[in-house]
Parts: sequence; structure tokens; C-alpha cells
Amino acid sequence: MNLPTKTPLSDSVKQLIGQSVHAIDTPALVIDLDAVKRNLGRMADFCRKHDIRWRPHAKMHKSSSLAKLQLQAGAHGVCVQKTAEAEAMAAGGVHDIFITNEVIAPQKLARVASLAHYLAAERGQLAIAVDSLEGVNRLATAMNEARAAASTAAVIDVFVELDVGQGRCGVTPGRAAVPLVHEIRKHPALRFAGLQAYHGKAQHVRSAQERRDLIAVVVQDVVFTRKLIEAEGIPVELITGAGTGSMACETASGIFGELQAGSFLFMDADYAANERDPAQPNFEQALFVKTQVISSGLQHAVCDAGHKAHAIDSGLPKVHVLGPDCELDYFNGGDEHGILRPSGSSTRVPQIGRMLWLVPGHCDPTVNLYDHMFAVSGGLINGNVERVIRVDARGALT
Ligand SMILES: Cc1ncc(COP(=O)(O)O)c(C=O)c1O
Repeated sequence: MNLPTKTPLSDSVKQLIGQSVHAIDTPALVIDLDAVKRNLGRMADFCRKHDIRWRPHAKMHKSSSLAKLQLQAGAHGVCVQKTAEAEAMAAGGVHDIFITNEVIAPQKLARVASLAHYLAAERGQLAIAVDSLEGVNRLATAMNEARAAASTAAVIDVFVELDVGQGRCGVTPGRAAVPLVHEIRKHPALRFAGLQAYHGKAQHVRSAQERRDLIAVVVQDVVFTRKLIEAEGIPVELITGAGTGSMACETASGIFGELQAGSFLFMDADYAANERDPAQPNFEQALFVKTQVISSGLQHAVCDAGHKAHAIDSGLPKVHVLGPDCELDYFNGGDEHGILRPSGSSTRVPQIGRMLWLVPGHCDPTVNLYDHMFAVSGGLINGNVERVIRVDARGALT
């Protein structure tokens, strides 16, 4: 199978490894590697303590080397949303991959089937979500064609997705799931692996109690659906789902066997605005856009990171405060500029050349804007660039 090849990092980027954080030109995507490792440790501890499996969503960091760091910390595999993301992960040496999404186009399903064979040969496993009979049959056709062409007999794990409140993909919880399960079980190249129940809208509900209430309904829906499937004599091995905002609730339910949270590794301004559930690990901000002031006046300054440097679907970035002298709010300056005005008790406008750190509103689409991220250890003030991490699945949309 043709897996994507990695374009090498340029010499000018590689030369920064070992240098001070000050040497990174702006705008640039920077991760605080110490904070990333702490977040990873907190997730691993949480899952160990609660005896639950974690399969972090790699749609967030899109990097096979970070995925491997997560696997080393105890993750069971990774989730992705797109076939091309799965291919990028496989090319980077990740062999247990779950496409938590519906794939319908025959040309994509041919890639899915070929990837299932590739991973099986590597002693790995591919999984996918479905929410229609049409989807199951198309997947089965692609898997059968790939089996006929290959000498191996790979089997793909198939999860039936339930729409548990987001109003996105998924069948309505209850009876509608049962015929899908029967259909999956008719095809030898497909294995019914369980149910996916992810409530995307619940993740950013600010109040912890409201998130608990929403997930309580999810749990009822899943339990009801599971009973109907089990009444047909079919075991439901695994319930998978949950994001960074609600994962403590799915865990506490006792019915989820796997967490798909992804953002916890980097966090963002939108997640920082949530009221923290005390049952939830305390994840810290680890993703920043480094920017610098290119113009400064009496009332405001302008930095070199505009909308092309960070996603704005979840709001404008926050300015990370590094010292008491400099509290700033970020305002829309267009594609290439950000306007900064003093806030709180601060009245100082930063001077030309001052380096600043922005906390993006939403981590996933911000990462997708960059070819690589600089991983800094020792902090944002005095740290050094320890590694440069490629965003392997940047733009992997198909
Ligand atoms: C199906 C699915 N599972 C898990 C996640 C992870 O959510 P988060 O990154 O908010 O933790 C997402 C994110 O959009 C998702 O779509």
C-alpha cells in the first residue's frame, strides 16, 4: 500500500534544535514539552486508577511522534477522524488506529481496506465507525475486494455510532442500532466491536454539573441500546467515546470502556473557560503561538499573528501573561495582525520586538495551520528547543 512519505524538515528549522526559545522566528507554533508530559502523566494515572482504556484522539495533534509518546505512556491506540489521518499515523509507525467517523466514498473505502491489511500484517488493527446499512455494505464490499487481492484475511473492527446529543453522525439510540449490528455480523471481514457514543456539544458546556447531566442522558441511551443488542444474543464488547470536557463523567458511569479525549494534551482557551470538574485531572495549557510586536503606539500594539496563525472558530486567542507588567487583550487585526490593548490593572503597551505567547481558542484547527511545532523544555522564558515535531497529518482531509 502507498503510505504518505514525510517531507524532511528544512535545515533552518532543524538548526534551532538545542537553541534558546528566543531564536524561534514568529509566528510559530510552540508546545511546552514539560506541560505536555505532565498532561500525559495525569491522563495515564487517571486511566490506570479508574481501570479504563484510553485511545486519545490524534485529530488534535496530527503527529505520529506525539501519538507514539502517548502509546509509550499507556494509550491503547489512537483515534483519527479521516482516512488520510489514519494513513499518516500508519506511515509514522502507529499500528492501532480507530477512524471514529463514517467513510462512504468507494475510493476512500478502498484505502481503508488496504490500510486494514497493512496494519494486520504489522500485527496492528484498524477500526471504523458506521451509522447506516449503506455504509456497512460499502465497507464490506471494499474489504472483500481487498481480501481477494491480498493473501491475508484482515478483519476490520466496526463500531456502531449513536447520536447521543450532538445531532451529527450516528443512529438514534435504541432499535435503530440493531439491524446495523446484524448486518455487520453477516460479513466475515467485519467484526462488530461495540458502540461509539461521543457527545461533542457537551464538551464545552461551562458548568460541570450541566456536563454531568448531559452525560447521564448519554449513559441511559447507551444502556438502553446495549440491552436491545444483547437481547439478540450479541455481546457488546466495548463502549467508546468521551472528550476532554466530559471524560470524568463517562468514566464514572462504569459503562464506558474507552476514552477518546484528545485536547487534554495541549488544551486551549475554550477548554480553559470550562468550570473544572473536581473528578477531572487538572490539565494545563501546553500549546502556544509565539508572536512578536511589530508596531507599538500610545494605546495599542500590533503583533504578527492574525487569523492565519490560529483558528478563530472558538474565539480569539488569549494573551498568555508572563509578567505583571504586561496584561493584554487580543483584538481582531485581520489575517496577519493581532491588535493588543492593555487590560486589567496594566496600562503598559508592549514595545516593538517584544515576544508574546498566544493561547489559541481551539487547538485542533490551529495545529492544522502549521507544518511543524517547536517542542520547548525548560519553560517559555528560559527554555530551549528540544525537538521539532512534524504535523504529519496536516491538511489530511480526505
Ligand atoms: C468522535 C470524537 N471523539 C473524541 C474527540 C475528542 O475530543 P476532545 O479533543 O475535545 O478531547 C472528538 C473531538 O472532536 C471527536 O470528534
